[in-house]
Amino acid sequence: MRVTLSVIKADVGGLVGHSRVHYTLMEKARKILEGKKKEGLILDYRVMACGDDLQLIMTHTRFIEDEEIHRTAWETFLAATEVAKQKKLYGAGQDLLKDTFSGNIKGMGPGFAEMCFEERPSEPVIVFMADKTEPGAWNLPLFRMFADPFNTAGLVIDPKMHDGFVFEVHDVIEHRKIKLRTPEETYDLLALIGQPGRYVIKSVFRKSDGEIAAVTSTQRLNIMAGRYVGKDDPVMIVRCQSGFPAVGEVLEPFAFPHLVAGWMRGSHHGPLMPVGFTNAHPTRFDGPPRVISAGFQLCNGLLDGPIDMFDDPAFDRAREMANRIADYIRRHGPFEPHRLSADEMEYTTLPHVLEKFKDRFEKLE
Ligand code: F6R
Ligand code: MG
Ligand code: MG
Repeated sequence: MRVTLSVIKADVGGLVGHSRVHYTLMEKARKILEGKKKEGLILDYRVMACGDDLQLIMTHTRFIEDEEIHRTAWETFLAATEVAKQKKLYGAGQDLLKDTFSGNIKGMGPGFAEMCFEERPSEPVIVFMADKTEPGAWNLPLFRMFADPFNTAGLVIDPKMHDGFVFEVHDVIEHRKIKLRTPEETYDLLALIGQPGRYVIKSVFRKSDGEIAAVTSTQRLNIMAGRYVGKDDPVMIVRCQSGFPAVGEVLEPFAFPHLVAGWMRGSHHGPLMPVGFTNAHPTRFDGPPRVISAGFQLCNGLLDGPIDMFDDPAFDRAREMANRIADYIRRHGPFEPHRLSADEMEYTTLPHVLEKFKDRFEKLE
């Protein structure tokens, strides 16, 4: 069967501050999605949370960017916002930028990653969810999974992967896109995705048959809103095994807690710490940025899982390294490169501060 997996997320209120989602918001979302499952709109669902972001994971047969699926997500976020408002949770309705739904959740604030595929005889997928960072945070791990033979042994060993993959990259500033093929265009790809604030990997396809392998959310909330709203706290879906990277090859890049943009006020670089579900609640300096990974086996569109893939002592060292990097980089306080570069800070509240004394500058002799 052809099944669509939709992951749609929004921050509609935090407990305490921006650190986690209140369980009543999750209960509200579950109740609504259970109703949609009974109605037959969706096949299955899971409601999860990463930091202050409410995550709706749904399977259905209606393809990507479907109006009814997006409306369901939007209405769920609105209902959760109502609960958040009643409880005076922090930033209630934060990510909902528009008043009325008009057919698609794109540009309305929430982030989403969706893919449609023919369910294989066995279909392992991993849903990654991050908090206190931006979509470009997936660039490095996606490159490692699908283009780096030192990470993914299958690129060398498995004839089904040996031809390589095609990366669709979005320029989120100029609103353009480009497809690049690896291994032959590896250096061209890196020339772009090494600037993750601007060039974001949207999807990855297997070159030999064009099969979808991975998809990310690419929304940049603050650019959309024209003001600082928060970081975009991205999600990503990756299919695994049998001609795609193995589960362990998909997880391996996260053993290195690479530096990402986000953290406090969406304005600082910090290490992306892989954590189990119970530790996905950023507190220190509102961070450091977190990533969780939820493993599922699909069975005729039903979700078996989530399995907490980073709940493994093998990732302890990555967490320890992330803490050490956090100690080091935090000591820079308000200095770059802990603080983001000036062009990235344009999308924060800093320009309002700079505005105040712009007339006090005098010309240098
Ligand atoms: C980062 C984030 C937080 C807030 C910070 C200030 O994405 O959400 O770090 O930016 O807590 O929040 P406000 O301005 O709401 O007081
Ligand atoms: Mg928040
Ligand atoms: Mg968040």
